[in-house]
Amino acid sequence: VIHPSKLKSPYTQEQVAAVKKDVEAILKNKDYDDGSIGPVLVRLAWHSSGTYCAETKTGGSNGAGMRYEKEGGDPANAGLQHARVFLEPIKEKHSWITYADLWTLAGVVAIKAMGGPEIEWYPGRTDFVDDARVPPRGRLPDAAQAQDHLRAIFYRMGFNDQEIVALSGAHNLGRCHADRSGFEGPWVNNPTRFSNQYFKLLIKLKWEKKHLGREAQGAHWQWIARLPHMDEEDEPLMMLPTDMSLTLDDKFKPWVEKYAEDQDLFFKDFAAVFGKLIELGVTRDESGLAKHDGKAGEYKSA
Ligand code: HEM
Repeated sequence: VIHPSKLKSPYTQEQVAAVKKDVEAILKNKDYDDGSIGPVLVRLAWHSSGTYCAETKTGGSNGAGMRYEKEGGDPANAGLQHARVFLEPIKEKHSWITYADLWTLAGVVAIKAMGGPEIEWYPGRTDFVDDARVPPRGRLPDAAQAQDHLRAIFYRMGFNDQEIVALSGAHNLGRCHADRSGFEGPWVNNPTRFSNQYFKLLIKLKWEKKHLGREAQGAHWQWIARLPHMDEEDEPLMMLPTDMSLTLDDKFKPWVEKYAEDQDLFFKDFAAVFGKLIELGVTRDESGLAKHDGKAGEYKSA
């Protein structure tokens, strides 16, 4: 299978550069969360890709199935309509780009703009014209579970233990919203700056199990902690049960420690694994356009 960088691009470099510039221009938003829509754009790119099943070659970032209720209405995708709405004017202006390409590209642009690594992105995804090939609900991870569940979900996509830990480092960005997931708060104290802080805090802080909201209203228990300089009234930092499970597992924990110590290693591994994530389910033909039948294999190297 030919590496996507060797295939014909459906867009010119100038076209892609223009979209990138327009995404960069909308990232800062003083009326939204912590002043940036970057984190929710990253989550859109991930959730559009994370439905992939390597065995059946279904799901993944091709198709932009989240435009349909079947996928967009999955409770796991609650809140991602905001990300899609933010990108809509860019889609209108550059109508030649597909939604599937725009959503993945926006995630890559956001990570870079927030101080993260450069991630390889290749065009060619095409959009479904109906919901016939939209993957079933329930393929995304459930944060209330633990390491066995993480392995089941991410092995299905074709990732290994090291890659699961590297990917989890995306929780350096953004926050949980009680009304979207039943969890609440940011993982780090500067959630619009990409770094390895998440891994450092996971190891260093003393985390305490807590229900911030009411169980009857869908709130889950989570882990909370405060930095030494934070007051009791300050919003605490948080970890999901799945985040904490990375420290409770013999295979995951060494990677958490490595990434906590070495930000360069984390950035390098994160760039590789996020690049792989957004390619899931994308099989291009010689025209450079991705088909929807999932037939071709994955590319190996350039
Ligand atoms: C947010 C779960 C992996 C990127 C969230 C939220 C949950 C969650 C519950 C909060 C949603 C909300 O209330 O708005 C999980 C679980 C994972 C996982 C269980 C399994 C390991 C990932 C991966 C990435 C990612 C692989 C990207 C590579 C994000 C980002 C946010 C987020 C950027 C913040 C979104 C925002 O600020 O609106 N995740 N996630 N997550 N997740 Fe994950």
